[in-house]
Amino acid sequence: MSDTGGTHKRVAILVSGGGSNMVTLVKSMTGDHPARPCLVLSNVPDAGGLTKARDLGIPTAVVDHRDFKDDRAGFEAALNAALERARPDIICLAGFMRILTETFTSKWSGRCLNIHPSLLPKYKGLHTHQRAIDAGDAEGGCSVHEVTAELDGGPIVGQARVPILPGDTADTLAARVLVQEHLLYPAVLRRFASDDRSLLRLS
Ligand code: GAR
Repeated sequence: MSDTGGTHKRVAILVSGGGSNMVTLVKSMTGDHPARPCLVLSNVPDAGGLTKARDLGIPTAVVDHRDFKDDRAGFEAALNAALERARPDIICLAGFMRILTETFTSKWSGRCLNIHPSLLPKYKGLHTHQRAIDAGDAEGGCSVHEVTAELDGGPIVGQARVPILPGDTADTLAARVLVQEHLLYPAVLRRFASDDRSLLRLS
C-alpha cells in the first residue's frame, strides 16, 4: 500500500501506542487521495502501531527516546534524520506521546498535524476525558491542529464533538471520541494534502 511515486504527497506518521489512528490514515490514502504513506515511526520499539504498519506494508523506523535520557536535542536530531530519509511532505502525529521543541516544530512548520482528544483550546495535555467529565461538560470531542511550539496550541483544522452521557467514565468517553477521531483525521488529512487548511467540523 506504500505507493510513494512522484505524483503524491508523502506522509510520515508518528505513533507511540496502538496506532488505531495511524491505521485509519494509511487505509484512507488510496485511489484519488492526493497523498500516500511513506513511513511509520515510533519512539517505542514495541509499539503496537509498528506491527500494524508492517502488516500494512508501510516502511517503519524506531527512534527510542530512552536512548537519549536527558538529551532532548539529540532525540529530535535522530527523529529528524529518520524523517529526512523518508522525505515526507506532511507529518501526522497520531498518538505520539513526546513533547516536541521549537527546533523540531519550526523545521516542519506548516507541514505537521496532530490529533488531540479534546475540544481544543480546552484540555491541552493529558487526561483530557477525565478533565471534561470533572468539569461537568456536556460535550467532549477531538481536534486536529497544526503543530507549533505551543503544546496542543497550533491552528485548529478539524473538530468533532460527542455528547458526554450520565455515568460516563474516562474510558467510555475515550471510546466514543475515538470513533470520531477515526473519521476526522483522515478527512482533515485529505483536505490538508490538497492545501485546504480551512476548519472542518464533523459533528
Ligand atoms: C488517541 O486518542 C489520540 O487522540 C491520543 O492518543 C490516542 C492514540 O490512540 N493522543 C494524545 O493524547 C496526544 N496528546 P491510537 O494509538 O490508537 O491512535
